[in-house]
Amino acid sequence: MPIVAATPTAIARAAQLLRNGELVAIPTETVYGLGADATNPAAVAKIFTAKQRPRFNPLIVHVADLAAARQLAMFPEMAERLAAAFWPGPLTLVLPRQADAAIPDITVAGLQTIAIRVPRHPVAQQVLRLFARPVAAPSANRSGHVSATSATHVAEDLGTHCALILEAGPSEIGLESTVIDATGPRPAILRHGALSRERIESVTGAVISEVGGAGQPPKSPGQLLSHYAPSCRLRMNARTVEADEALVAFGPDAPDTRGPSINLSPSGDLTEAAAGLFAALRDLDQPHVACIAVMPIPDTGLGEAINDRLRRAAAGRSAQP
Ligand code: TXA
Ligand code: MG
Repeated sequence: MPIVAATPTAIARAAQLLRNGELVAIPTETVYGLGADATNPAAVAKIFTAKQRPRFNPLIVHVADLAAARQLAMFPEMAERLAAAFWPGPLTLVLPRQADAAIPDITVAGLQTIAIRVPRHPVAQQVLRLFARPVAAPSANRSGHVSATSATHVAEDLGTHCALILEAGPSEIGLESTVIDATGPRPAILRHGALSRERIESVTGAVISEVGGAGQPPKSPGQLLSHYAPSCRLRMNARTVEADEALVAFGPDAPDTRGPSINLSPSGDLTEAAAGLFAALRDLDQPHVACIAVMPIPDTGLGEAINDRLRRAAAGRSAQP
């Protein structure tokens, strides 16, 4: 298994492997990413193969700073404000693509837009600065599975496909970045994530929620898919637990259970709950567990993203086209 602690030597090796068109798993503050040279179509194709990801689902392109992002995309006024407020950090902006940017169609699934993120994790930053090219990186999990929040999760899902997995402990936030369509004057949330709606609206005023919007085709192709799913069933808003169920608890009033259980935050803290969510789903997804019962999670702050992931997991794979 190619897991290596993210020392300066390992980071230099990661940059070299990216230059050679290989796949490298990289820690970010949200989740681990499966990185490839975003300018190299053959390298990017390896991401789609490794993840078994549909080719119509575009990738997020990661760069070290706003100056590098400007080489790839145009920044309408609202995008400037969002970038100034939240980069580096867990925000992905969907922007009009620069026509002459060195990004092949496969990276953006042929769209006229491009999703860009400037991560703040020091290891991701060092890789991007050393490599000095944009890195395409989806979450480092099999397509449809729960995102990876540790190097071990990456190895379980994608170990044979990575030339290197840079190890830097569990992901700090544990939820993917918030994806915002910033192509127009009024931003729209395409994917709830690590940056809460409240924090975004403190900069932009009211945002449009495209997520699950009735009757509208999703602008974010990834939202079509069943995602974040363990292999057993999952049900939300559980107040009691059956004998063959595992429990994901939240807060001080967890019901008694003899089966496996994990409390995401005994004190009821949503940030703590987000950080442990995907690891809990992976840990409880055991052969003798028929269903994971999840207690109610408040739908405010990071709870909005947590509930979004849980709803997708509860819907199972039926939504997969
Ligand atoms: O936190 C994160 O965002 C992680 C880390 C590694 O950066 N990455 C991640 O990537 O979650 P991925 O590929 O698992 O999710 C990217 C989402 C997908 O839903 C995709 O459809 C959407 O972003 N997306 C990418 N490019 C887009 C575009 N041009 N327009 C609309 N949606 C786009
Ligand atoms: Mg993903």
